[in-house]
Amino acid sequence: MSWINVAPYTDIEGEETLPIEVDGQKICLYNLDGEVFATDNQCTHGDAALSDGLIQEGGLIECPLHEGTFDIRTGKAKGAPCTQDLHCHEIKVEGGVIYLRPA
Ligand code: FES
Repeated sequence: MSWINVAPYTDIEGEETLPIEVDGQKICLYNLDGEVFATDNQCTHGDAALSDGLIQEGGLIECPLHEGTFDIRTGKAKGAPCTQDLHCHEIKVEGGVIYLRPA
């Protein structure tokens, strides 16, 4: 898979999360202290968008529905009731543009 231009960096600069769609796939971009990461946007526990969640200490995203957590960098399920990991997607930022390589 090749890199896809998904958003200008300025779209996430002042945000914690940014929902995007790539080839019909719903993905969440995260801004962790200026570094961009990407996972699937749908929580693996239920029907909730992680882009509506809150970033917690240690680089965790907290699901808005039942407050389960995932590690944003690895997609690992970290807090109950979440047990299934998220798919992560590769990101690079070049020339002020965010590129994603779908997993
Ligand atoms: Fe995300 Fe339940 S839907 S923790």
